[in-house]
This record gives sequence, C-alpha cells and structure tokens, in this order.
Amino acid sequence: MPSTLSLVSLAFLASSPLVAAKCQKYVDAAVTAAANLQSAYFTNGGYGSQQPWIGAVDSFHLSELDTLAGASTYSDVINTVFTAWTGQLDNGNSYDDVQWVSIAYLRAGNLAQAQKYYDIASTAVSTDYCGGGLFWNGNHDYKNAITNELYITTSGFMYDTTKDAQYLTNLQTTWAWLKASKMMGSNGLFNDGLTNDGNCNNNQGTQWTYNQGALLPGLAYLYKYTGDESAITSAWAIMDAIIMGLTVDGGLRESCESTDANLCNADQQTFKGITVHYMSWFLSVSGRDNGSKYTGFIVAQADKVLQFAVGPAGWYSNLWYGINGGQATWTASSQASALGALIAAGQQNC
Ligand SMILES: *[C@@H]1O[C@H](CO)[C@@H](O)[C@H](O)[C@H]1NC(C)=O
Repeated sequence: MPSTLSLVSLAFLASSPLVAAKCQKYVDAAVTAAANLQSAYFTNGGYGSQQPWIGAVDSFHLSELDTLAGASTYSDVINTVFTAWTGQLDNGNSYDDVQWVSIAYLRAGNLAQAQKYYDIASTAVSTDYCGGGLFWNGNHDYKNAITNELYITTSGFMYDTTKDAQYLTNLQTTWAWLKASKMMGSNGLFNDGLTNDGNCNNNQGTQWTYNQGALLPGLAYLYKYTGDESAITSAWAIMDAIIMGLTVDGGLRESCESTDANLCNADQQTFKGITVHYMSWFLSVSGRDNGSKYTGFIVAQADKVLQFAVGPAGWYSNLWYGINGGQATWTASSQASALGALIAAGQQNC
C-alpha cells in the first residue's frame, strides 16, 4: 500500500505542468516544426532582423517544447537570442517588448535577467494618465491592452517564481485598473487601447487575438494564489469571446487574414500561437477548464494547423482556418505561431 507521502507526491506529479507529453502526435509535429524554425531562421545565435519580442516568444515556445519532449535541445537559445538587441531593449521605449523578454528569461530560469526587464516595464506604470496602468512606450501618450495584460501575466509569473508579495500586488492593481477601464468592447474582446484625447475611451482599435490571450496566465496565477473565483469567470468569458468572435469554422483567424489575401505583418502573424499557448498555460496553472471546452479548443486549433497551414515536411503558413487560396505566407512568424499551437495541444490530455 502506498504511504500517505507517496500519495501526496503522486497527486503533485499528476498536476505538475512538468509532466511529459500527453498528446504525442502534436509533440512530434512540434519537434519537427521547431527544428525547421531553427534551421531556417536561427543563425549566429539569433533570428537575424526579426524583432526581439518575437525572438522572446520563440524562446518561450522552445523552452516549453523541451519540457514537453523531455529534452534540452534549445536550452542555449536564451543565452544569445537577445545579444544583438540589448541596446533597443534596455532603452525602455517598448514596455510590451521587454515583458516578452522577461517571460522568456523566467521560463529559462534566469531570474536576474527577468527582473531587469520587469523593472524596465515597471517604470511605465503611471496613475496620472487614465488613472493607472502602464504606458505602451516612451512617448507616454498611449495606454494599450497588450502592455497591461502582459504586466498581469509577467507579475503573476514573477510572483510564482519569487513569492515576493510586490508582484502579486502589481498583478492585482493592474487587473483592477484594466477591468475598470474601457479597454474591452461590448463583444467581450479587448480592443487595442484607449483614446489619447484625455477621455480614455475604447479606441475601437483592432481586437488582435493576443490581446485576449496575453493576460490569461496572469488570471490563473491570481486564482492560484488568492482563490479569487472571479479570475476564472473572467478568463472563461474572455476565452468564450475568442471562440465566438475570432474564429471561422472553429479556427482562429487574425483580422488581417483571409483565404485569398494576407495583410498581416510579422508581428501579427505571431499572435495566434501566443493566444493558444497562453490558453494552455492558463489551464495548467489554474486546473480550471469548463468541462473540456478550452482543452478541446486548443486541440482543435492544432488540428486546423495540421489540416490547413501545414506544408511539406513540417513547414507552416499563417492561415489556420481554411484552404489557402494562394496568399498564405511562410515565414519565421508563421512557423513559430504554428509551433505554439502544436505545443499547446501536446500539453493536453488526449
Ligand atoms: C460552461 O460551458 C457551458 C457550455 O458552453 C456554458 O453553458 C456554461 O455557461 C459555462 N459555464 C460558465 C460558468 O461559464
């Protein structure tokens, strides 16, 4: 008979995000997608001219894949991926970008670097413009969704790592401000930002997919560490709004995409993979699906990727939701975005 202690350990193992691959088919596809991403786009320790925030997202995906696959294939990426970009990152002019970098470092176990970039982001907090939240950049004239949502997640991840109460406070303060702001549209999706005319109204900017995904892990940490059930209610409502408002035939669609045109730039091609991966991150921290609704959605996205976006030998386009009419693009961003979805599906039970 197992002792009480081993039952406790087993219960811990069963809920740990470090438990290996469950949906092997998606893990296998992710391993190939990652190898292609790296062989085509990663040279001399970096991704060339690709913006460092996307490199940070790539690094996060690759760290998660290593855990999922039980490997350490990509553990060195984090050590060089920002080398050519430290000037741009350290100047504090892009308060969303530095948070992607902070998350990548945290995920790789480098708290000192994570904290450095978190602290840069924290300088953007200001209560004398729209009552609170973070500025987007050094112009200090725009409060937007992504910067603030990331601060909720980055603060949650910092608290999870350090248990230093200031991070939980930062999460709660920013979430309270965001909820009370007019950032969310009537369809339950966050728009890009607030008007900078002094009225701080919803600016009707694009409802990008990642504007809905970026804060979900933060809400999971809030629930995990405070038991705040409303964090789950909010996260579920946001995910329901994604399913309702940002899909076609069940597949995620960025608003700049159609089956016969592609107006998405490299940034925008990155968003869907973040959204799906962060949904998985939410589920693994909170343990709170509604039945299997959100797990099912995540797996469905990987299935769409494998149906519509896949090309020969594990290369992926940006177009997930329908048959490519000829304009889908095959880029470092589209490859990494597909990778995010495949990893997320690999993290689910199947
Ligand atoms: C859970 O999902 C079902 C099916 O979509 C829905 O009817 C129900 O309202 C959801 N529960 C909550 C609390 O959102």
